[in-house]
Amino acid sequence: MSGTPPRRPRVAVSRTALPGGGVARLTTRFDVTAWTGTQPPAPAELAGLAQGCDGLLVLGSDRVDAALLDAAGPALRVVALASMGYDSVDVTAAVERGVVVTHTPGVLADTTADVAMALILMARRRLPATMDALRGGSWGAFRMDAFLGLDVHGATLGLIGYGQIARAVARRASGFGMRVQHHHPRRRQDDALSRWVPFDELLRTSDVVSVHTPLTDETSGMIGAAELARMKPTATLVNTGRGGVVDEEALLTALRSGNLHSAGLDVMTDEPRTDPSDPLLTEPHLVVLPHVGSATEATRAAMVELAARNIEELLDGRPAPTPLPGTPAIT
Ligand code: DGY
Repeated sequence: MSGTPPRRPRVAVSRTALPGGGVARLTTRFDVTAWTGTQPPAPAELAGLAQGCDGLLVLGSDRVDAALLDAAGPALRVVALASMGYDSVDVTAAVERGVVVTHTPGVLADTTADVAMALILMARRRLPATMDALRGGSWGAFRMDAFLGLDVHGATLGLIGYGQIARAVARRASGFGMRVQHHHPRRRQDDALSRWVPFDELLRTSDVVSVHTPLTDETSGMIGAAELARMKPTATLVNTGRGGVVDEEALLTALRSGNLHSAGLDVMTDEPRTDPSDPLLTEPHLVVLPHVGSATEATRAAMVELAARNIEELLDGRPAPTPLPGTPAIT
């Protein structure tokens, strides 16, 4: 007797051509609909794509809120982010609707830490400005007083947050001869790489302050005018976490007034930034990158792979491997 074959679960993917084999594998098991636009989907377009799906694979820049979850409908069981950060997610709305949300810890810390180290070196040694001078034909004769920066070796690095990425930065920094200290509000312990210090002491005594805390209501704007004023005028601020943790206006003011030596940002409050006259992009003592912390082929493929695996496991009735901290792994 032939019956109707069971409905294959539906999975929506918010981008076309994601790296690695994760999405291709999903298509062998599920009915996958991927966004085909060259630009990311607007919220209403993502809601349309998600309608009726059982699983949704999105990037960290896609907003996952009650409107999206409701548009997807009651079949939705899992939203898998190909991203470690999840400030784009209304976690309460997802938990209330019984939707498991997953992210990608464990696969991008080293790659992102490489970029944090690069920003420390570029900003402190003012390397992008020296390249601009070279390309502009103004190298001139060798001068003992030209292109001078500040040493990285021997400097004290202060890490705000002490999760996977911060610890990967600590490992690199100790190899560069830096002293490492960190502040984490709850986990107050030292380890072989770094010692815990109070937040105020970290700001006052670090030559480089590197931000690695997630963006939450508590951390939004946590590096503002008052915190920058407590830092050394010879200090460098680096942010590879989320733009909203740093008050960008206050940062520009501190750099322009000479109250801060330099800064390096891989993340900004509003992304992308496309206006070439944007003060954040033109400030000479600020090195800015377009959110490339995890941007290597291998790491981006691993992020998509882990997101796909979360969908497979959950839709197969097993716990998702990497749910958001403090949230259920299974519906
Ligand atoms: C992350 O994983 O959080 C990166 O910022 C890329 O979204």
